[in-house]
Amino acid sequence: MAILKIARMGCWSLSQPAEPVEDPNDPEIQRLISDMTDTLLDVGGAGLAAPQVHVPLRVVLFHVPAQRSGGTGSIPLTILINPKITPLGPDLETDWEGCLSLPGMMGKVPRFSAIRYQAQSGTGAPIDTEARGFHARVVQHECDHLDAILYPMRMPTLESFGYVEELRQAAANRPTETKTTEKAS
Ligand code: NI
Repeated sequence: MAILKIARMGCWSLSQPAEPVEDPNDPEIQRLISDMTDTLLDVGGAGLAAPQVHVPLRVVLFHVPAQRSGGTGSIPLTILINPKITPLGPDLETDWEGCLSLPGMMGKVPRFSAIRYQAQSGTGAPIDTEARGFHARVVQHECDHLDAILYPMRMPTLESFGYVEELRQAAANRPTETKTTEKAS
């Protein structure tokens, strides 16, 4: 078991495109997956991309707990190697996001409402899935890390970007605002 150090915004590994994985069954890739799993479960986020642990390879993992799924059902821990995303239509949804690489911060980010994603699993098996809602959001967020994109770079305006504590306090002082929930990934 190994808990890896998480890179923060500005780190070299978050600022360059990640390389494809040639062989998912390579023991080094298997160890990376195992260590990333330990790390994600330890920090309690929804997802983690290899560049966030200083490894510039196209590997992400995520899970969707039932309470975050918005009624669409939970998704168990899923490993995506060399993922490719195709939007299913032009519709966007805007919701709060956080990121383990920007600790303590969050912002409202538009994402495609529905996507198809194709990848290799942690054993190299093909994955071809459609996703909506938070499931689609977390996959888009994690895969963006593989292209050196952090969620503030997807925000059309930085007005909602800030520290979680401050934004929650501000929302609590404005009863008409919807409650803010952080979705770290
Ligand atoms: Ni992130």
